[in-house]
Amino acid sequence: MKRIAILGSTGSIGVNALDVIASHKDRFRVVGLSANSNTELLSEQIRRFKPRLACIMSREKARSLEKRRGTRVVSDMEGLIEVATHPDVDLVIMAIMGSVSLIPLLEAIAAKKQIALASKEAFVTAGELVMKAARKNNVRIIPIDSEHSAIFQCINTSPSKELKKVYLTGTGGPLRNVPGKLFDGLEPEEVLNHPKWKMGKKISVDSATLMNKGLEVIEAKWLFSLALDQIEILVHPEAVIHSMVEFIDGSILAQLSITDMRLPIQYAVGYPERIAQKFGLYLDFKKYDRLTFCQPDEKKFPCLDLAYGALKQGGTFPAVLNAANEVAVLNYLDRKIKFTDIPRFIEKALSRHRGKPANDINDILDADCWSREEVRKLCCQ
Ligand SMILES: NC(=O)c1ccc[n+]([C@@H]2O[C@H](COP(=O)([O-])OP(=O)(O)OC[C@H]3O[C@@H](n4cnc5c(N)ncnc54)[C@H](OP(=O)(O)O)[C@@H]3O)[C@@H](O)[C@H]2O)c1
Repeated sequence: MKRIAILGSTGSIGVNALDVIASHKDRFRVVGLSANSNTELLSEQIRRFKPRLACIMSREKARSLEKRRGTRVVSDMEGLIEVATHPDVDLVIMAIMGSVSLIPLLEAIAAKKQIALASKEAFVTAGELVMKAARKNNVRIIPIDSEHSAIFQCINTSPSKELKKVYLTGTGGPLRNVPGKLFDGLEPEEVLNHPKWKMGKKISVDSATLMNKGLEVIEAKWLFSLALDQIEILVHPEAVIHSMVEFIDGSILAQLSITDMRLPIQYAVGYPERIAQKFGLYLDFKKYDRLTFCQPDEKKFPCLDLAYGALKQGGTFPAVLNAANEVAVLNYLDRKIKFTDIPRFIEKALSRHRGKPANDINDILDADCWSREEVRKLCCQ
């Protein structure tokens, strides 16, 4: 029986993870859950899964939940860390949106919990530090992101010297066929309409700007110890291949499946075993008469270049990139800025930032904080 905590259980990944767990009650048990503010759904999840511990960020909301349920309910960052490090937990599913997941992630690693990672922002912000901590504590990080899960599955036990490059595939997002000249006036409803995946709002906007691919390049670099020129983005609108790995002998392995996050989640929580799925999600090749690939349009989607630039500059720049993007996207969703302001404001934050090496977590947190404030000011102008 694997005992699991889900940080971000009320989000899109969290709900899918609970679906996976519920489909294998003989293998997985929920020990901890967490939400930011969705008391109603968390309350329902507590009733259904009876975890030992649950965390909601607001203290007041935690009190109201505690009165109603038997589960101990905690709050704030300390509460989140308590869930991530609970002695009964074997595996933590990190599914919180944003770099706020960084501290609980590092604490879970320090407590030697195995990690199933969805929260890419934490990894973008401090990938090198996170990997260092994971190596030191002998913790394995299994990616949930479908692309990284695909790469992880293709690499399997191959030594890194046999690896030539990885192809990170993506649908091209909901704006692939929308002319760039219309981007200024795009409403959130149009942007959130992803052709293949049902996801949380922030990642859906990232998929539309292609910042999601940029973040994924950074995530892949750290997760698989790759050089930047070993990662190539390929637009693949059918979303059948979730990524590919090319080896030095010229062989390429690809991972294919239906576009449903329950599959990479189940792989990550079941690892190292492959478990039979109970959702009937099998690929039917008769539905596809071709699989197509092309290069992303970097001019139309400047976020890609911004992500590459931040990664090349290194140090605190990726933290600035991520925080600027988080703030800009939330302001766009609140209709305070235009869609085209997102890359504009990120670019401004990056160009104004005085970078330094990210030697420890405080360097990262300072840069994250500085960038948020910078973009908040830009959004209010
Ligand atoms: N959705 C996907 O298919 C997908 C695929 C690959 C990777 N990912 C990654 O997985 C992560 C989660 O994505 P999602 O789509 O599931 O997001 P989501 O639907 O927005 O859910 C986010 C979760 O994090 C919680 N949360 C948000 N802000 C928080 C804060 N400040 N403190 C504590 N908890 C907070 C939310 O709680 P409330 O519900 O109470 O707000 C919710 O449980 C992201 O990093 C994303 O890039 C997602």
